[in-house]
Amino acid sequence: MYCVKKVTDDLIWVGANDRRLAMFEGVYSVPDGVSYNSYLLMDEKTVLFDTVDKAVRHRFMENIAEVLGKRKLDYLLVQHMEPDHSAVIEELAVKYPEMKIVCNSATLTFIKQYNNFDIDSRVIIVNEKETLNTGKHTLHFVMAPMVHWPEVMVVYDSTDKTLFSADAFGCFGALNGALFADEVNFDKDYMDESRRYYANIVGKYGTQVRTLMEKASALEIERICPLHGFVWRKNIPNIVAKYVLWSHYTPEEYGVMIAYASVYGNTENAAEILACRLRDNGIKTVMYDVSVTPSSEIVAAAFRWSHLVFASTTYNAGIFISMEALISDLVAHNLQSRTVAIIENGTWAPTSGRLIREKLQQCTNLNIIDNTLRIKSGLKANQVSEIAAMADAILSTFPKPVSVPDNPAVGTVNPAALRKLSYGLFVLTAQDGNKDNGCIINTAAQITESPMRIAVTVNKANYTCEMIGKTGQFNVSILDTSVPFRIFEQFGFRSGRESDKFAGCGYDTRTANGIRYLPKHTNGVLSAKVVESVDCGTHRMFIADVMQASVLSQEPSVTYQYYFDHIKPKPQIPEKHKQEFVCKICGYIYEGSALPDGYVCPLCKHGVEDFEPV
Ligand code: FEO
Repeated sequence: MYCVKKVTDDLIWVGANDRRLAMFEGVYSVPDGVSYNSYLLMDEKTVLFDTVDKAVRHRFMENIAEVLGKRKLDYLLVQHMEPDHSAVIEELAVKYPEMKIVCNSATLTFIKQYNNFDIDSRVIIVNEKETLNTGKHTLHFVMAPMVHWPEVMVVYDSTDKTLFSADAFGCFGALNGALFADEVNFDKDYMDESRRYYANIVGKYGTQVRTLMEKASALEIERICPLHGFVWRKNIPNIVAKYVLWSHYTPEEYGVMIAYASVYGNTENAAEILACRLRDNGIKTVMYDVSVTPSSEIVAAAFRWSHLVFASTTYNAGIFISMEALISDLVAHNLQSRTVAIIENGTWAPTSGRLIREKLQQCTNLNIIDNTLRIKSGLKANQVSEIAAMADAILSTFPKPVSVPDNPAVGTVNPAALRKLSYGLFVLTAQDGNKDNGCIINTAAQITESPMRIAVTVNKANYTCEMIGKTGQFNVSILDTSVPFRIFEQFGFRSGRESDKFAGCGYDTRTANGIRYLPKHTNGVLSAKVVESVDCGTHRMFIADVMQASVLSQEPSVTYQYYFDHIKPKPQIPEKHKQEFVCKICGYIYEGSALPDGYVCPLCKHGVEDFEPV
């Protein structure tokens, strides 16, 4: 039975999923399966974008037959000749004898190498910037050699602003009923697999990916249709931003990835102690046993983290087998721009450190810390200082001081605190006499550098707004990604007029102006004096000079998106009679059969008129 999904009114996904494949390309485990995407455009001419792997050819042929109905297939557009996308070309040619094959000349060579049917009589060769008009749609051909094979081209449909991106923007994992990335929690559930796909499939070709990105930047793109994984129609800048980082070999995060190979646990022991010392200094660490974790996962992690430590025992006078394979893999994937430290072990002739160093020297722009830590069988007490020295050497390469928070009780201005501001969530606090109060806001921005001035916007119905209007002073605690939902309950879901928002919080931390701030889950705090206020209807904007700015941690600021994806509890599966209403202003979801009279959004304070049924 066919299984197809609509991308747009006239573009249909006709691909298929494979959840039985153990190793993609024979080398990458795909525990969550993989999708082979193919798209059928039903214009005046019908156009199929690529085919699928032979494992799913039966479903694919059913899908095409269903969507075409009585129509013929006019064009097969071949973007990429790797067999996971091209295994069904010959079968299609037999079933649809009038079908023309549209491809570039490099693709034609590969089609002939993989197939044995008459291709020349049906091929249409296209070149960069040429177009194909199919009726309503105009398809533009954009060559993308080495993303991932030399013949690759992508196609831009200027009518619907859709980029058919071939392997670019692909992801491991079968599509479990969802077709669009915005139908799932992509950052939480799929970003790791997206990175693993990128690093292992096209990671070697950063230069070529950047060239494609430059070409794509000239296009207005509303939709990306890759050959694996989800279709993108929302949040496209987010995945593009990842591709910018990955293709430049720029780490996504500061932190240390430690990969170790340990036969009897002694090398692992040294790696663990190093990880502890780094954590003690506020550095994020992740660890992988290379004998257990597949190389593709560690390669992906190496693309993520800024610092890498390789700890390996010596084996057969060389590097331990799985570590040697990992290092070769990293070199082959062109890893660049990382700081690296090495630990070697050996009972009689340790050589693994020197050999790892020699191999990694093939990579571009690696900063390999000079001193290799040498263990003879097991770490000795007098070597603890060597571990500490290695931790210090790694720490010294981090770009900014770690875990040295400012003291907000002292009225100094650290400009770095202003750089924590984002379209995020903040606790705005004020004091009137002996009364402390605070509320959640989502708008706080720096507006000028000199004088250092910020603007915050707060609902006029909030008690905090009234207090600031009266006293002209406030604090902004910039929430970070460690913030739990209870903070939003504490400051967001009730009024300070009737309750003490700080009751039972267990701290009484104040900046130099005497106003309270949140010492935890906060990466920065600003104290400000109002210079002007602007009536914005439901809200009031306070423009204020920054009197004090303190950095409290290096945790990333929580963004509005992060809040919805990771902090706000997901609604339970609604009972049948239940209804949900979403606040059109801030996205807050109210669950219940009807909105109560006079209900206001606990986050943004808008009334029932700004809610709509989900
Ligand atoms: Fe999924 Fe390079 O092919």
